[in-house]
Amino acid sequence: MAKHRVAYLPGDGIGADVLEAARLVLDTLGFDAEYVHGDVGWQFWCEEGNPLPDRTIEMMRTTDCCLFGAITSKPRDEAAKELAPELRDRGFVYFSPIVRLRQVFDLHTNMRPCKAFKGNPLNYRDDIDIVVFRENTEGLYSGVELHPVPREVMRFLADYQPKASRFINENPDDLAITLRVYTRKACRSIVTQAFEFAKKQNRPSVTVVEKPNVLRETGGLLVGEARDVGKGYPGIELWETNIDAMCMWLVKNPQIYSVLCAGNMFGDIISDLSAQLVGGLGFASSANIGDDYALFEPTHGSAPKYTGMNKVNPMAAILSAKLMLEYLGEAEMAQVLKNAVARVIREARVRTYDMGGSASTTQMAEEVAKYCR
Ligand code: IPM
Ligand code: MG
Repeated sequence: MAKHRVAYLPGDGIGADVLEAARLVLDTLGFDAEYVHGDVGWQFWCEEGNPLPDRTIEMMRTTDCCLFGAITSKPRDEAAKELAPELRDRGFVYFSPIVRLRQVFDLHTNMRPCKAFKGNPLNYRDDIDIVVFRENTEGLYSGVELHPVPREVMRFLADYQPKASRFINENPDDLAITLRVYTRKACRSIVTQAFEFAKKQNRPSVTVVEKPNVLRETGGLLVGEARDVGKGYPGIELWETNIDAMCMWLVKNPQIYSVLCAGNMFGDIISDLSAQLVGGLGFASSANIGDDYALFEPTHGSAPKYTGMNKVNPMAAILSAKLMLEYLGEAEMAQVLKNAVARVIREARVRTYDMGGSASTTQMAEEVAKYCR
């Protein structure tokens, strides 16, 4: 029997290409795992009205963790048009499988390292080493949304919050609401993860990114927990920055930041921004971690126009595999993999198109694998 059991979910578009690249590297390292394929993505939405079939979730429950490729997400109405004709008008509503998976497995922490590898021509600067901790199951992505908004809901809200009364007379169909739901538990958990990580890695600061001057209740809760948790880590500075200013500072002085910590949506935004500073989404890996399960995925999307072309940069998926190795306690393999990636980038012999080269996805993976033997 293999030592580890890994759910293998390539998903849509380039997902298959980049996961194959990661597999090639893992196999070369001698990573001992059984991979179990899982159905997820657009095809299953079109054919079954469910982009994340129950059988996939059940299968995942029998595994140690999941390696995930990429997913095509489309707005509701566009998605409805692509549904098989016999499934239309039967109440199927498209949802993002990755957002759902994070909630189903309570993968509350999304960790996204953004480190500049030496010699990467795409680096904004060479001295950037940021790790984003993003709360992964709540906030504006909780999925608590209404459209139309029934009048009684607005009236009810106005009883508790007079500011809601200005919307009471709106036509229900002309109103849409998305709730930003924060729990103290999730806020405390994400800041604790960020501080623990900073401590383990001897990092000087944790920057909490919010907007508590406007989003007083939700923003206030997260910042409050950060202050409280921060007291337990006297050697690590807590910086508080508003999301808008943070975007500016990340362009102006990214090298002064170390660990960033944010709620779901602001974390989503700063993780793309931080990724671009170190070569773009082709280098952006991520770990979605819960108390008893984890899912590893490149931050990039499914890039439909490159489907099956064996063209895109697989580094994000390969670096996600490194995070998986660390999670599974294979620290030595993770270190070898990281050194191999650093060496391939530094030596600059094999580069995909985004880096100005003409190597294929497979060639890039083979070059990394060469240093993993
Ligand atoms: C990400 C992606 C997802 C998200 C999308 C695909 C739903 O942007 O992982 O950052 O918003 O979380
Ligand atoms: Mg994103």
